[in-house]
Amino acid sequence: MLNVVLIGVGAVSKSHISAWLKQENARVIGVADFFADRAEAAAKMLGAEKWSDDYRDLIDSDDVDAVDICVTEAAHVDVATDAANAGKHILVEKPISTTLTDADLIIDAAEKNNVKLMVAHTHHFYDYGISAKEIIDSGEIGTPVYIKHVSGGGFWQQDWTGTRISAGDTGGNVVTNGIHIVDLTNWWMGSDPISVYAQALNPTSSHMEMNQYFVITIKYENGGIGIVEMSRANMPRTNQFSQITVLGSEGEIRTGSDVNSQWVYKEDGLIFDNGGFQAGFDREINSFVDAVLNDKEPPVTGNDSKVALQVCLAAEVSIKTGSVKQIRS
Ligand SMILES: NC(=O)c1ccc[n+]([C@@H]2O[C@H](COP(=O)([O-])OP(=O)(O)OC[C@H]3O[C@@H](n4cnc5c(N)ncnc54)[C@H](O)[C@@H]3O)[C@@H](O)[C@H]2O)c1
Repeated sequence: MLNVVLIGVGAVSKSHISAWLKQENARVIGVADFFADRAEAAAKMLGAEKWSDDYRDLIDSDDVDAVDICVTEAAHVDVATDAANAGKHILVEKPISTTLTDADLIIDAAEKNNVKLMVAHTHHFYDYGISAKEIIDSGEIGTPVYIKHVSGGGFWQQDWTGTRISAGDTGGNVVTNGIHIVDLTNWWMGSDPISVYAQALNPTSSHMEMNQYFVITIKYENGGIGIVEMSRANMPRTNQFSQITVLGSEGEIRTGSDVNSQWVYKEDGLIFDNGGFQAGFDREINSFVDAVLNDKEPPVTGNDSKVALQVCLAAEVSIKTGSVKQIRS
């Protein structure tokens, strides 16, 4: 049985809690959040006996094997390095961190302490993410040469302020949201990104001091191109859009433009299905538990997330300078 401490009880933790409650070989035994009342409520929901407003009260205990870190992006580094130094395996929400220096600190601490490190890039675990990867790996569409992932909408609340959207706390929209799709595109392409060009604007929500809408073009070592186009605060909020194309040397797969169109790959081939939002979190946490209990490499490593972060930070530079940012020669 894997004993876990959940650290951070905000928006995303609800999906983690739901997934932990389904585990047969793992359980949450402690919960921490700056807000003790949140920690207590989550602990009661999970049947955990301990809670605290300071995660350091919980992670040193010998009966803790792993931590699930769901705190604000810029706080990942302190919590993750403390957990690694306490000898605990780590599942940390995406992005791994908001700077490459912090990413290295986390990766090095995990390596030095010989603990597993997995970054929770949920889109790896949704039906559509897995299905596209399976098709690419099967060779059915040849070598991927062009991947375009467009996802936009107005689901950010216009009155969100503070840590929820502040660039200092989250790394900014490109880092905290763009990284989902950048990482997915890296994974599907199966090649290292070498240069990045990006543009951004904030057409309808200028009071939110972030790049609301952005387009990133990524050039890969294998000659492929990835395009990541995203918005999170469109007004009107009904203005939702989504489109995915994976073009290979011998075929392609693509969705339409309906925001709910997702695909799943089954015996009968590719069918459209709006997948389950929670299923991604359930599979993600299953994979982490499996990696720790069976001593496997986690399916999304610290380095995978660092490479995606490198692309997102390069995109921020490109947005400011208007030029292509080389990240690898
Ligand atoms: N995978 C996904 O689809 C997905 C979705 C949303 C958020 N996220 C990620 O999850 C993480 C959290 O996001 P959120 O939306 O839940 O944020 P949130 O602001 O709703 O919640 C963060 C919680 O962490 C607590 N916290 C922050 N620093 C802490 C510390 N040092 N010690 C203890 N508690 C601390 C806060 O009090 C808060 O309760 C971020 O990395 C975010 O990018 C992922």
